[in-house]
Amino acid sequence: MEFIAHRGASAHAPENTLASFKKALQMKARSIELDIAESRDGRLVVIHDDNLKRVAGLPGRVETYTAAQLKKMDAGSWFSERYSGEGIPTLEDVFELVGKKAEINVEMKGGCRIYPKIEEKLYRLLKRRALKSQVLISSFDHEALFHFRALDSRARIGYLLGRTSLSRAFEEMADLKAESLNLSASQVSAQIVSQAHRKGFKVLVYTVNKIEEARRLDKIGVDGIFSNFPEMKNDF
Ligand code: G3P
Ligand code: MG
Repeated sequence: MEFIAHRGASAHAPENTLASFKKALQMKARSIELDIAESRDGRLVVIHDDNLKRVAGLPGRVETYTAAQLKKMDAGSWFSERYSGEGIPTLEDVFELVGKKAEINVEMKGGCRIYPKIEEKLYRLLKRRALKSQVLISSFDHEALFHFRALDSRARIGYLLGRTSLSRAFEEMADLKAESLNLSASQVSAQIVSQAHRKGFKVLVYTVNKIEEARRLDKIGVDGIFSNFPEMKNDF
């Protein structure tokens, strides 16, 4: 079973910052998950929420700030004073840091209805950096996944289930030629795993921070888990 560093090694450093991705690489994570949004000046930036309140203590939505402003924010102090001044990176900063050392799961937090042309921007960036095979694109916004598929017939797509019914999800995943069904630990079951496998899809489960739960999921055939503790794989 694969261990995917959720928002980086986010139990050890502030989520979705270069510090948390560095930690994940130090821990030899082979795969890293992160979330993206778009800045006011149209850059892809790495942040989970659509606003700055939780991680930077500032008002307003992400898309009202430029990438340069986001980079200068303090998105580290909320986690620990040790990380004060840790900024909100661009996706390019992360690609630069990670290089070929790990796979990256880029989760689009919202498609073009929230962030204009986010799918196209991501597509162009992956093409420019020749990263298509190293990156899994995922989203709860399934329309955004269809937009991405229309741009790239060979993209690797992870379908985040959310509140969609399983039967509809499997239909959409077949149309999308998705690689994986990504769902929460409370949604997954042995039956879902075998159904997905029969249809040729992998199953990736978030967010698993306890070794006993990881073992249970491994037993039912789950292919990968997202964890804030990627080092857990060493005890596995
Ligand atoms: O992609 C798996 C997981 O990251 C989805 O939930 O809210 O942590 O982005 P969230
Ligand atoms: Mg995510």
